[in-house]
Amino acid sequence: MNIYFQGTNQRTFGTFPLTGAELRDAMMVAAEVGYRSFDTAQMYGNEAETGDAVAELGLARDTLCITTKVHPDNYTEAAFLPSVEESLSKLKLDYADILLLHWPPIGGDIALPLKLLQQAQEKGLARNVGVSNFTAQMMRDAAKLVDVSLVTNQIEFHPLLNQDVLLAAAAETGIPLSSYCSVARGEVFKHPVFGEIGEGYGKTAAQVVLRWILQKGVSINTMSTKRANIEANFDVMDFTISSVDMARIDAMTQTGFRIVTEDLVPWAPEWD
Ligand SMILES: NC(=O)c1ccc[n+]([C@@H]2O[C@H](COP(=O)([O-])OP(=O)(O)OC[C@H]3O[C@@H](n4cnc5c(N)ncnc54)[C@H](OP(=O)(O)O)[C@@H]3O)[C@@H](O)[C@H]2O)c1
Repeated sequence: MNIYFQGTNQRTFGTFPLTGAELRDAMMVAAEVGYRSFDTAQMYGNEAETGDAVAELGLARDTLCITTKVHPDNYTEAAFLPSVEESLSKLKLDYADILLLHWPPIGGDIALPLKLLQQAQEKGLARNVGVSNFTAQMMRDAAKLVDVSLVTNQIEFHPLLNQDVLLAAAAETGIPLSSYCSVARGEVFKHPVFGEIGEGYGKTAAQVVLRWILQKGVSINTMSTKRANIEANFDVMDFTISSVDMARIDAMTQTGFRIVTEDLVPWAPEWD
């Protein structure tokens, strides 16, 4: 089974943009609540602190699921594998459970970083590999370029953004999606519909949003610094949104409503 759908890994705790005591404290609460899957990246500059927190947790290695992501600056023969070794050293791990290409390379030639990603897996630096911020065409190309299964394409996914093209590509290629900006960094709370639907299930707006994502077949990454929100975001497995309510939420999605805009990431590909 795909690693993001094993155990509690469908719910991953994201670490961006946390650092220092805020990161440590949030990870302690997250683990206490039940999270075992944690997401970091070279680009976040917090792998060492994430590693410190993981070590402090003292949990059995095989119960943890640690994702990190390679910075596009390291997509060269010379830099890629050493950068992954440096990530593992900072994380104080022998291997990453999941290693992702954080962004498609600028210019779009995905063949080299995918080859290097596969090499990292073959060398035992990562148990699973995948991609992030890939377009539908890149997903189709990637599936043909590698001999291994790509366990995810981690992308912006929430009910304010229509991602039907990527959902179709996921079904076609067998590369599942995982969400970031799952509550659209709070934008979803400006829309009363999620809270209204939640009343019918005894759940909050955030829980409805996260459950909708899961019912789309997408695993979730969430980040919060507050215990109540960390608990709420984990507590989304004991209800099912009806098809009628799913359709009401589907109707909220818009083309191009992005949190991670071109201003924030000028290196982003031309989105579907
Ligand atoms: N692959 C990529 O390119 C990429 C890009 C962005 C993010 N990510 C990953 O995805 C993770 C999650 O994405 P994100 O943090 O950008 O967006 P997000 O989860 O949509 O938003 C996080 C914000 O929402 C608030 N929040 C979270 N749960 C809440 C709840 N139940 N009720 C009310 N407010 C809530 C948090 O505030 P409080 O602290 O006040 O709760 C925080 O400010 C990141 O941490 C990172 O690991 C990946």
